[in-house]
Amino acid sequence: MSNKNRNQWDLSRFIETLSYFEVFPLLNWVQDLFQGRPKNSQNKPNGAKQMGVVLVAGATGGVGKRVVRRLNQLGYRVRCLVRDIDKARTILGNEVDLVVGDITKPETLTSLVMANIQAVICCTAVRVQPVEGDTPDRAKYNQGIKFYQPEIVGDTPENVEYKGVKNLVEAAAKSLPKRDAKIIFDFTQPSEDLKNVWGALDDVVMGGVSQSNIIFTGETALFTGNVSTENSGGFASVRTKNFDPAINLSGYEGIELRVKGDGKRYKLFLRSDSAWDGVGYSYSFDTVDGAWINIRVPFSELIPVFRAKIVQRPPVDTAQIRSFQLMLSKFEYDGNLNPYFSPGSFSLQVESIKAYGGNELSAFVLVSSAGVTRPGRPGINLEEEPPAVRLNDQLGGILTWKLKGEDSVRRSGVNYTIIRPCALTEELGAKQLVFEQGDNIRGKVSRDDVAEVCVQALQSDKACNVTFEVKATENKADFIDWQKLFASLQKDN
Ligand SMILES: NC(=O)c1ccc[n+]([C@@H]2O[C@H](COP(=O)([O-])OP(=O)(O)OC[C@H]3O[C@@H](n4cnc5c(N)ncnc54)[C@H](OP(=O)(O)O)[C@@H]3O)[C@@H](O)[C@H]2O)c1
Repeated sequence: MSNKNRNQWDLSRFIETLSYFEVFPLLNWVQDLFQGRPKNSQNKPNGAKQMGVVLVAGATGGVGKRVVRRLNQLGYRVRCLVRDIDKARTILGNEVDLVVGDITKPETLTSLVMANIQAVICCTAVRVQPVEGDTPDRAKYNQGIKFYQPEIVGDTPENVEYKGVKNLVEAAAKSLPKRDAKIIFDFTQPSEDLKNVWGALDDVVMGGVSQSNIIFTGETALFTGNVSTENSGGFASVRTKNFDPAINLSGYEGIELRVKGDGKRYKLFLRSDSAWDGVGYSYSFDTVDGAWINIRVPFSELIPVFRAKIVQRPPVDTAQIRSFQLMLSKFEYDGNLNPYFSPGSFSLQVESIKAYGGNELSAFVLVSSAGVTRPGRPGINLEEEPPAVRLNDQLGGILTWKLKGEDSVRRSGVNYTIIRPCALTEELGAKQLVFEQGDNIRGKVSRDDVAEVCVQALQSDKACNVTFEVKATENKADFIDWQKLFASLQKDN
C-alpha cells in the first residue's frame, strides 16, 4: 500500500498508549519529569487489593500486630479493629487503616467497620498477666518460655473469649460475601483507583487508525469507539495495566462477565506474563444486541495466542493474573475472520468482572488455644498440662470460654479456620510446624509462625472449616508446603 492511500496515523496517540501502559520506562520517566504526572497514575495496580479488606481484631496484640504486618507485606487491604487509636498508632504506625470497636460491645461492630470485608482474623484475648505485674523483662509475652503466676486483668473470659467472639462472627456474617465468586471489577461503583487501571489500546500500536475508549458512567464501564480496517488495522481494545502483585485466582473455574453489547463478537484476554507484547489467553464471546447477559469464560477454554496466532503454551497461570483486556477485532485466530465483525462504531457495556466456581475459602480465622477441651476431660494428668489447663478455674474458666467462643464460630454459618496454638513465644519464627487434631499436643510456637498460619489459612481451601492445634519443632523451615499441611487435616463435621 502506498503512503498516499494510507490514512493519517496518529503518532501522539501511539506514544500516549505506550506510556499509559508503561512500556518504555525511560519515556515515562521523562514524562514524569516534565509533566509531573500525578503519583497514582504511575503506580502499578495492586492485584491483592482488588479482593476486599481483611479485618484484624486484636491487631495491637502480640499475634495481631504480626498478622497485620504479614498481610501488608502480601499486599492485602487491611483494616484493624482497635479499642485505643493512640495505642494502636504507636504499635502499628500511621499507614494502617484503623477502626474503633470493642468485640464485647456489639453496637460498635457497625456496617462501616465491616464494609467491603473479604475475611476476618480474630486474635483477641482477655488480658492475662503475671501476678507481680507486667514489666518488660517479666512480660506476659515470655510466658511461653518461663512460667509466672498468671492472673486475669480487666474484662472476664466469658465476655471476651465467648461473647466477644460470638458478637464479632455474627456481625461479620452479615457483611462477608459468598466466597465461591469473587468480584474483580465492580463497575457499578468504580473507585478512582479502578478508573486508573484501564486504558485504550487500539491498532494505532501497529499503524492502524481505530480508536476506542473506556468510559465509567457510574453504573457501567462502556467500551466504545470506532474500529477501522484502514492501514491494515482492525482492532480496538481496552486493557488493564499490569497488576503487581498479580491477582491470584487459583481455585476458581473461570471468569464471568456481565455485559450488554451490540450483537458483535468480542474477545476477553487474560495474561499471566507482564511482558507488554507477550502471549495472551483469549476467549471469544458473542453479545446480544441491547440485552444484559452473563458470559462464563472457563480458564480451561482460554486459547494461548500471540498477535492473533495460536501458540503452544501451558494453560494460563491462574495464580498470577497480570492483566485483563477486552477487544473487538476483525480477526479470530490464525487469519480467520470474526464472522460478526463490521467496521464502524461499537459499544460494549460491562457491569462486572468476577471469578466464578471458587473453592470455599475460610473467611473467619480464630486464634484459640491448645487445651480448650482438656479441663475436666477424664484421664488428663494436670501435672503434665500447660498452665492454662491447670489453672483454668483460677483464670475464670478461660479455656472453657474459649471453647464456647470456638463453638459460636463453628455454628455461625461462616467459613472458618480455628487455630489452637500451644504456648506462644516471642522467639523467631520460620520453624517447621506440626498440625494436629484432637487437642492432645503440648509444646510451643512463635507468634511469628502463628501469624503466618493465620494468613495462609485465608488462601487454602483445605484450611476451610477445620479446627487444629499447632506447635513448632526445633527445625528451621526453608520452605513450607502449606497446602500439604492443611490437607493433612480432617474437616469438622
Ligand atoms: N499466651 C499463650 O501462651 C497462648 C497460648 C495459646 C493461645 N493463646 C491465644 O493466642 C491469641 C493471641 O495471643 P496474644 O499473646 O497475641 O494476645 P495479646 O497480645 O494479649 O493481644 C490481645 C489483643 O486483643 C485485644 N482485645 C482484648 N479485648 C478486646 C475487646 N474487648 N475488643 C477488641 N479487642 C480486644 C487487645 O487489644 P488492646 O490493645 O486494646 O488491649 C489486644 O490487641 C489469644 O487468643 C490467646 O488467648 C495464647
